[in-house]
Amino acid sequence: MSRLELHDVTEKNLRELTEFPLRPGQDQFVAPVVHSIAEAYVTPTAWPRAILDGDEVGGFVMANFDPENELEAFRCGIWRLNVAAGAQRRGVGRFAVEEVAREARRRGRDRMTVLWVEGEGGPEEFYLRCGFVPTGERVFGQVLGVRTTGSL
Ligand SMILES: CC(C)(COP(=O)(O)OP(=O)(O)OC[C@H]1O[C@@H](n2cnc3c(N)ncnc32)[C@H](O)[C@@H]1OP(=O)(O)O)[C@@H](O)C(=O)NCCC(=O)NCCS
Repeated sequence: MSRLELHDVTEKNLRELTEFPLRPGQDQFVAPVVHSIAEAYVTPTAWPRAILDGDEVGGFVMANFDPENELEAFRCGIWRLNVAAGAQRRGVGRFAVEEVAREARRRGRDRMTVLWVEGEGGPEEFYLRCGFVPTGERVFGQVLGVRTTGSL
């Protein structure tokens, strides 16, 4: 996986972004990309990006950077992450996490968050492997994980 890049959501990648499937059973852990892009349209602090693997869409990531938000989970962190079924387990998700960390550092932030739903087939192990540590706090019934924005 040497050609991974984040790109803006554009007319060119929109169809692929909204049509790629997850693996069976994963839909319960994340909103559909089309839903996230609609939310981004009405949320000025959202940072939605296509994850390109060469010319192909490998996934979608959306961060939120809203430093004044009363909830820490929305100040600086990953909001959505969907990796296409055929691109999973090849480092695409980790790449997206590190790119969000890089953008967070660029914005002067040293701490980033993510919320995840627990359950069989869910993303918990992935986020632990990416360095997030559960705070013990739950937000909307989800686990709040935090890590530094420095490279691991
Ligand atoms: C969770 C998800 C984003 C992971 O993406 P990915 O590209 O497959 O993950 P990576 O290949 O970058 O994996 C990074 C590390 O996590 C591990 N990992 C990934 N998925 C895992 C899983 N389901 N169980 C255990 N470990 C997992 C990998 O083995 C790798 O470990 P290592 O590098 O330390 O050996 C992807 O499975 C997905 O889109 N799931 C459905 C939607 C979802 O749950 N999104 C999160 C919403 S909060």
